[in-house]
Amino acid sequence: MKTVVLCNQKGGVGKSAVATLLAHHLAQRGRRVLAIDLDHQGNFTRPLRASGRAEPSACTADALLTGPVPPMPLSPFVVVPADRALLNLERQPDQHTPFARRFRSFLASVDAAFDVCVVDTHPNPDIRVIAALVSADFALSPIQLNQEALDGVTGLLNHERVGLRKIKAVLNPKLTLLGLLPTLVEPTPFQKANFQQVVMCYHPLMIRVGERPGDFAAIPKRSCIAEAQAAGEVLWEMKKTAARDAWREIEPSLSRIADLLDGTDRGITPHAQEASHGPAA
Ligand SMILES: Nc1ncnc2c1ncn2[C@@H]1O[C@H](COP(=O)(O)OP(=O)(O)OP(=O)(O)O)[C@@H](O)[C@H]1O
Ligand SMILES: [Mg+2]
Repeated sequence: MKTVVLCNQKGGVGKSAVATLLAHHLAQRGRRVLAIDLDHQGNFTRPLRASGRAEPSACTADALLTGPVPPMPLSPFVVVPADRALLNLERQPDQHTPFARRFRSFLASVDAAFDVCVVDTHPNPDIRVIAALVSADFALSPIQLNQEALDGVTGLLNHERVGLRKIKAVLNPKLTLLGLLPTLVEPTPFQKANFQQVVMCYHPLMIRVGERPGDFAAIPKRSCIAEAQAAGEVLWEMKKTAARDAWREIEPSLSRIADLLDGTDRGITPHAQEASHGPAA
């Protein structure tokens, strides 16, 4: 089982929406998917439950850190729902190490039952995010192309508690940044300029979907994505033409992410002009 954690300390950048699309996409590809919602807001739990595709576990996600954990349902698509009890975990600092150890033991215990575990997190850099990152194989970071996008990326990598570089160096050497994933992308001159700036500074951290310059995974802003999330519908099964068009736009990005998780990625050679840019900060 490969575990991927959706993380970014910025709120509202599309973490839960991407987690939901990815979980459905992986399930549709025939992968056995375990979805864990570590955010008490439950924005990953709600659409998965409402879709009727994922079977809820007997316990809520806080139990994965506090124990005991009942057996997971024998289903190829399981969601461990969020609960407000997740809010209590940060207030027990003497328990943080046992919390992280229990979460890691839980993941090890379901290793043979699932192919991929998708973990959604809260923007607060607390013990829930740390517990997830210290046990994960991959981090996937949705970013929004607003004014603070570049500052946000610096924080994501270097935050003193949950910075991906620090976690990798000190606590979890196997942690790999799957990539930065621009989300809620709009074709405005402002966003285009920010996209170019992110590519210039961080292209080695972005997810290639093709060989042309600018061929990086991204999720456009589309009202049907928000509607699918709110109604618990699977985007590509919605009746609207707009939903199918949106799926056509994002399918290459989600497929590439799924390939990277599967380890079946064929690799894409970056355009020479881009490869000559300086190293990522
Ligand atoms: N690509 C998209 N197009 C349109 N709306 C989107 C898209 N992605 C997310 N949204 C909507 O934007 C809002 C924020 O998205 P989401 O909840 O996924 O962000 P988040 O990063 O998980 O937020 P939080 O930090 O609070 O957990 C939601 O209403 C969601 O439905
Ligand atoms: Mg969320």
